[in-house]
Amino acid sequence: VVLNIIKLNATDSTNTYLKLLVNKTNVVDQTVVLAEDQQRGRGQMGNGWLSRKGQSLTFSVFKSFKGVMAEDQFMISMAVSLAIINAFKTFGLPKVSIKWPNDILSGNKKVAGILIENVLEGATVKYSVIGIGINVNEMEFPSLPQASSLKLEIGKSLELEEVLHAVLKNMFDKFELMTTQNFSDLRNVYEQNLFRKDIVSVFENKEGQHFNAIIKGISGIGELLIETENKAIEPFQIKELKLIY
Ligand code: BTN
Repeated sequence: VVLNIIKLNATDSTNTYLKLLVNKTNVVDQTVVLAEDQQRGRGQMGNGWLSRKGQSLTFSVFKSFKGVMAEDQFMISMAVSLAIINAFKTFGLPKVSIKWPNDILSGNKKVAGILIENVLEGATVKYSVIGIGINVNEMEFPSLPQASSLKLEIGKSLELEEVLHAVLKNMFDKFELMTTQNFSDLRNVYEQNLFRKDIVSVFENKEGQHFNAIIKGISGIGELLIETENKAIEPFQIKELKLIY
């Protein structure tokens, strides 16, 4: 693959930078924006994303699509998550899983996060700005007890470049495959890699109440399917519940 990488010394957010660029000019498909120092990283649900210069990877990818229906847009997230865990497995990261919908874990610690911003045109996805933050060589996360890095989990440092290239290669391969795969092909593999699948977990609902339920899989539009105590399997959206443990 020909790589088109824009390297920035510093920026507020690579997703924001890339979105503005796409609005201003013609951006080649699969263009990557990489920031050495991302100063105001954005996460899911309006959260921030912290990174450290020289130790973390923060980048965004522009991907245009033809024929991905808007209702199938979770396919993009599944392809990206699976690409990241494949790359991490090649580095020997132990107990890799996907915490639905966008966290990549080793054991029960988060090592990477994904922020996908899709632009729709009618009933299809026109393009996505896919932002990925990976903790590579950090040795401590003072105020984030649930965070870890590849180095902490594998036991050795990695070059930021080699991690970047492994993730990009896996991701571009997955996008290639996506032209022939459908939602359920991807979903099967995705479900096999879900964090806490088939075991009783504690969730919190919108009202702040805790309840026990079992993660069973993903619905046809990317919702989380959980089995509640009365044995009913119900779909939930990201804003509707939080996995506590
Ligand atoms: C999350 O876990 O909530 C998602 C975190 C996504 C962070 C990445 S870092 C590169 C890209 N630019 C951003 O501002 N956010 C994403």
